[in-house]
Amino acid sequence: MISLSVSRSGPLSGEIRVPGDKSISHRALFLGAIADGKSEITGFLPCNDCLATLTCIRTLGIEVGRHDETSLVVHGKGRHGLLPPDAPLNCTRSGTTMRLLTGTLAGQPFDSVLTGDPQLLRRPMGRVVDPLVHMGARIETEDGHAPLTVHGRDLHGITYEMPVASAQVKSAILLAGLYANSSTTVHQTGPARDHTERMLSAMGAKIATDGCSLTVSHSELSPLSISIPGDFSSAAFPIVAATIVRGSNITLREVGINPTRTGLLAVLSAMGASVAVEGFRNAGNEPVADLRVQSANLHAVEIDGDTVVRMIDEFPILAVAATQAEGTTIVRDAAELRVKETDRIATVAEELRKLGARIEPTPDGYVVQGLTPLHGAAVSSHGDHRLAMALAVAGLVADGTTQIDDIGCANDSFPGFAGLMRAIGGQYD
Ligand code: S3P
Repeated sequence: MISLSVSRSGPLSGEIRVPGDKSISHRALFLGAIADGKSEITGFLPCNDCLATLTCIRTLGIEVGRHDETSLVVHGKGRHGLLPPDAPLNCTRSGTTMRLLTGTLAGQPFDSVLTGDPQLLRRPMGRVVDPLVHMGARIETEDGHAPLTVHGRDLHGITYEMPVASAQVKSAILLAGLYANSSTTVHQTGPARDHTERMLSAMGAKIATDGCSLTVSHSELSPLSISIPGDFSSAAFPIVAATIVRGSNITLREVGINPTRTGLLAVLSAMGASVAVEGFRNAGNEPVADLRVQSANLHAVEIDGDTVVRMIDEFPILAVAATQAEGTTIVRDAAELRVKETDRIATVAEELRKLGARIEPTPDGYVVQGLTPLHGAAVSSHGDHRLAMALAVAGLVADGTTQIDDIGCANDSFPGFAGLMRAIGGQYD
């Protein structure tokens, strides 16, 4: 395991680009694989999770050429071009890989087995299996968990009320809906990230949106040509770092600012942060901008409802910001955090307390009392990439040295994290 030592740092400065968006990279591979012809992808994120998707689609008979780490050509073979896998499909620790793959395989004329690392085998899969079974697939689980055996079948459309606001579940149903013999409608409980819908419509799929409801029908897909923007969820770490390290001033170039992803910007701005959105433009079907962040004095906020959905991956780093905000920050309606890579309500509270934070877990969120000076300590990432990076940001404002046991898991979503933070002045060894 690679550990990371972090020391209190002076002002952060400079210009950086965070790597490509993880959610969009997965989708470009899945949809490129079943498009009719050659898709060109630049800005692909070569993180562990997306590389798991790449390996899986190759195992399903799709040729993918790589000009370099981030530029790919996916030789799509159309909706009916996938081949039966000759081995179990290993999704490693990637929930997006497993759930979107299950949706894609539900309508194939062959059987597949999906497996992964122990961390992924603990996560709930019933949420994706149930609607696909309603559509006619047969899927065996281990008591609602992977390994999954997907027996592909002819599918029929359904109307589905989603019990949780999950983009992975929504996307799995939409992918299966491309194969169904009648239309499929999904009613969402909240604004889960909409990259699948945007990409499907750019590829000519028959998809209609009506508020939080979506209808997709049996469609052929044209190939993609896409330049993937920086991942807002990766940008969140330097954004919070520059906000809480006094005297900082950094610029992040070409960050995706899809409104279904940027709840953290709204929350930070309500806390008094200074994040200027500059050079707004559209790249493909996604909004992109440069973000200029200056340090600021923060005050506490309360977060609930749809805002939670729009920042579901940002609660580990928000908790760090909250320790440096005057007052009591309260997060509600975020019970989903309990079924992420780790139980993020429990692990975030456990580890930040070691640094002196005053944070109380609640059944559906947490309560943080600020402003609290932090002190260095030995902490654990629990193998959770976003917790590891949040702790690495907390260490920048903690006295002494913060030692994170396993920073290697940051590669699940953000390869080069420590190097990029060093480039703006983070004291990382
Ligand atoms: C993702 C959706 C979210 C998010 C995950 C990526 C996606 O999960 O937490 O990191 O790419 O669809 P849920 O759909 O389970 O909320």
